[in-house]
Amino acid sequence: MLATRVGALELCSPLLTASGTFGHDGEATAFLEAGDLGALVLKTVTPRPRHGNRPPRLVETPAGLLNSIGLENRGVEVFLEQNLAALEALELPVVANAGGESVEEYRAMVRAFGPLDAFAAIELNLSCPNVQGGSLPFSSSPEAVTEVVSACRRLTDKPLWVKLSPNVTRISPLALAAEAAGADALTVCNTVLGLVVDWRRRRPALGAGFGGLSGPAVRPIAMRMVREVAQAVEIPVIASGGAACADDVLQFLVAGASAVQIGTAGFREPSCISRIAAELRRELAAEGLAAAELVGTLAWPDPA
Ligand code: SIN
Repeated sequence: MLATRVGALELCSPLLTASGTFGHDGEATAFLEAGDLGALVLKTVTPRPRHGNRPPRLVETPAGLLNSIGLENRGVEVFLEQNLAALEALELPVVANAGGESVEEYRAMVRAFGPLDAFAAIELNLSCPNVQGGSLPFSSSPEAVTEVVSACRRLTDKPLWVKLSPNVTRISPLALAAEAAGADALTVCNTVLGLVVDWRRRRPALGAGFGGLSGPAVRPIAMRMVREVAQAVEIPVIASGGAACADDVLQFLVAGASAVQIGTAGFREPSCISRIAAELRRELAAEGLAAAELVGTLAWPDPA
């Protein structure tokens, strides 16, 4: 009833972890019941270690979380040394997430991940707003998306997912560029650039200044972008943006997503993917539907 597919990848559930929210090693899957998580999407890894941004790195907002982590990680060599064996032992698809500051760095990540059987797919994080001064060099122009995705495509036959940014005027040209360059699926989307001010100190609340907003506050923005992208491309869309219950997930499926990443909700409730899976089974059973039947079924109103 929950089974879905993202291109060639068959998943037992449309629920995936969102990169950066469930760790590097799969340990947190112990919070979940077998069969509830469709795939484990790992935190971003970069070729070299990154210390991340100046603290504070997190601030809560009324319906969300503003983060400025800055892709902290130990670099791909240590990541593989420390985690590969544990990831290989997991009995579910694992998606590696690759970051970089240049086309060559993305290529280096795909060269590292591509040959490894532990990974069912590679998600290219083109859209972290907390590095390179928030300039988003690989997710702001179709030309840059084309360059990086086609360079990575040439290096691997593994499914390549491309995680796009919501911090653009129109997302569809970027989605089309990624598809034409060989992406197998598009993750829509990363966090929304935001600012919280500590007015007494006359300083931003986050050490780095701006941050990326996630959680329920961004869900309608992500929903709109999922719809736009699903209308524009033929490849599958993976939603990422504030889902926290079955109703949110079902909305994303109807809007055009084949799978839905759960992120911020898991910080408060690490087992929420199992709670959402149980809710989904109840909702779908009540309607006599399978999750995959709902994908892209949104009926759009006629113009007045
Ligand atoms: C971060 O590490 O700053 C968050 C990850 C992301 O936004 O891609």
